[in-house]
Amino acid sequence: MRIALFGTGGMAAALGSRWRQHRLTVSGRDPERAAKLAGELGAEVQPWAAAAREADAVLLAVPVSALEELLPPLELTGTVLLDCTNTPGDPEPPGTPVATRIAELAPGASVVKAFNLAKVDVWRRTPPTFEGRPLGVPLCGAPAAVEVAAELVRDVGATPLPAGGLDRAPLLEATAAFAIGLWLRGADARTMLMS
Ligand SMILES: NC(=O)c1ccc[n+]([C@@H]2O[C@H](COP(=O)([O-])OP(=O)(O)OC[C@H]3O[C@@H](n4cnc5c(N)ncnc54)[C@H](OP(=O)(O)O)[C@@H]3O)[C@@H](O)[C@H]2O)c1
Repeated sequence: MRIALFGTGGMAAALGSRWRQHRLTVSGRDPERAAKLAGELGAEVQPWAAAAREADAVLLAVPVSALEELLPPLELTGTVLLDCTNTPGDPEPPGTPVATRIAELAPGASVVKAFNLAKVDVWRRTPPTFEGRPLGVPLCGAPAAVEVAAELVRDVGATPLPAGGLDRAPLLEATAAFAIGLWLRGADARTMLMS
């Protein structure tokens, strides 16, 4: 698979390191950081537009605030857009769902909300486990795109959890916002989901 990593920070590095068997490209606004990450991953640096045009899947590992400017000029028809973003801070009430906005900004692409519920440190683990059990990764998007995302979840050593269409992505975003809000107040948000 041809995977374009958008962003050169923690999430791109952590997930990209699990996808080395694919053809990886790195795109970022800082050429030095892009070259450094590409070197670490055995990837190629590409400008956003070329990477988008050639990729089967794009990991959007940039802040939500970058998307309005970044996405509209790109050719993304038929491309799977992996949306791992979370809204910073503790939004109450949550604003417009990001995945919905991404689908508007890149109308021909197939957006999958994925990888947004665990911290970057978790994605660095090989494999990412939660108290000894494989991490479950909920995926919201169209079935064909979710299948692509599921392959990439298995590649990181986690378990894909298909969780419905993109209309359910706001639930994943709200879950993250709720859990991050608890975490910022010093609570252990994981305990609320234990059975
Ligand atoms: N960190 C986590 O634990 C975690 C977990 C789940 C989901 N997420 C989500 O994953 C996404 C990436 O997070 P991260 O932790 O990888 O962040 P990060 O380490 O701060 O990296 C962000 C990347 O986005 C780039 N960027 C920032 N503003 C940009 C702009 N306006 N245009 C283009 N590129 C821009 C940065 O470039 P520069 O280096 O030039 O600043 C950097 O390459 C975020 O949406 C975040 O909410 C993060």
